[in-house]
Amino acid sequence: MDGLSDRVLIRGGKPLSGGIVAQGAKNAALPVMASALLLSGRRLTLERVPDLQDIHTMADLLRHLGAGVNFDKGRMTIDVPEDLKWETPTDLVRRMRASSLVLGPLVARCGRAVLPLPGGCAIGSRPIDLHLKALVKMGAEIDLEHGSVHARTDGLKATRISFDFPSVGATENVLMTAAMTPGESVIENAAREPEIVNLAQALRAMGARVEGDGSGTIRVRGTRSLGAASVRIIPDRIEASTYLLAGVMTRGEVTVNGINPEYLESLIIKLEEAGIPVGVFADSVSVSCRERRWRGITLKTLPYPGFPTDLQPQIMAALCMADGTSVIQESVFDSRYVHVGEFKRMGSKLDIQGNTVVVTGVPRLTGAEVRASDLRAGAALILMGLAAEGETVVCSLKHVWRGYESLLCKMESLGADMRLIPDADGA
Ligand code: UD1
Repeated sequence: MDGLSDRVLIRGGKPLSGGIVAQGAKNAALPVMASALLLSGRRLTLERVPDLQDIHTMADLLRHLGAGVNFDKGRMTIDVPEDLKWETPTDLVRRMRASSLVLGPLVARCGRAVLPLPGGCAIGSRPIDLHLKALVKMGAEIDLEHGSVHARTDGLKATRISFDFPSVGATENVLMTAAMTPGESVIENAAREPEIVNLAQALRAMGARVEGDGSGTIRVRGTRSLGAASVRIIPDRIEASTYLLAGVMTRGEVTVNGINPEYLESLIIKLEEAGIPVGVFADSVSVSCRERRWRGITLKTLPYPGFPTDLQPQIMAALCMADGTSVIQESVFDSRYVHVGEFKRMGSKLDIQGNTVVVTGVPRLTGAEVRASDLRAGAALILMGLAAEGETVVCSLKHVWRGYESLLCKMESLGADMRLIPDADGA
């Protein structure tokens, strides 16, 4: 990780140019790590794991449950003993919502689990009711006591789950549970994100039969005896997209290598609609924006393959500098506009109307001291700082370290002028 300083000073206005390699996807690595809990006396090996705060939190959670986790230069081994603990500690779980991903594997493997209701980014109400409802349908008894989920079962049964909404985490939890439940489970209205496909690859490598991942209907034939496996984590589409948008906003030329362009399709479509030339190659994507302004557009966040909610703050940052008006509608989370107030401090013109933001483009942004409210909002504020005139200080970077590996090194390699500065209290 880049370090634990909580503030960065950015001198904006320099066009970024060059190439970076995409990190492994945080949101793929976390569920794959959780899936190791399905093993007994076996090892799961992961390649291309990003070195991020959230990954360390999940590693600590697995260690607490009894697993041996080794992590070195992108390679992680998780050795899972026959005896596992099934109670998860509040401090780790509240640090990260993705901790809820251990619930299904623990119930499947140990027949019980205790999980304090999880935390995570402050982006609206984020219940786990869909996860719980599905586990009950599979034969788990669930009680909520003193802010924790208590789950137990005398035996899970394969069944048909139909989600009201294609929740990523709920699909992953059910997929992992079904992989260890004998018989055929069917998940309807499943999330279709590439990270789900990566998890299914891991489960197949362990010996479960999984079909249809990447579509809305996933069929799983589970088995009680899953085996040692090795899996490579896919590239991070949100990180890759963030660097492309940094290239756009600084009127530079940026290439992201080691990425499957298909994952970036919804962004590429929107950039082209805005009049930004995009180069799409076998395993890289580039933008070139020298001397250019881009047009305002409309967009709505949706489950994959729609436009990702995790990219909404970053594209909003870019649209703050567009020629004309943009309309952004957030349909995945109910309150993901906390960054709008900070954007305004930098000279942008935004108007929130319910779950929609109307962005009136301005020719230039001005540096200011701003605060990151969550991971992607923090990334977007860094983009704003890189594009703005003068100096910007972004505070509360701890959120950003949860999702962006070597961010300072990568930005500096593209020519950004940014450095960590001591925290306000001198720490
Ligand atoms: C995952 C991603 C997160 C991303 C989100 C949407 C990981 C570790 N995190 O989060 O970065 O922003 O997908 O793409 O992969 N919901 C319920 N009940 C539930 C579950 C979800 O109402 O039981 C709602 C949520 O409050 C939210 C929406 O469904 O409004 C989407 O949530 P979900 O797809 O579950 O996101 P996560 O898996 O938490």
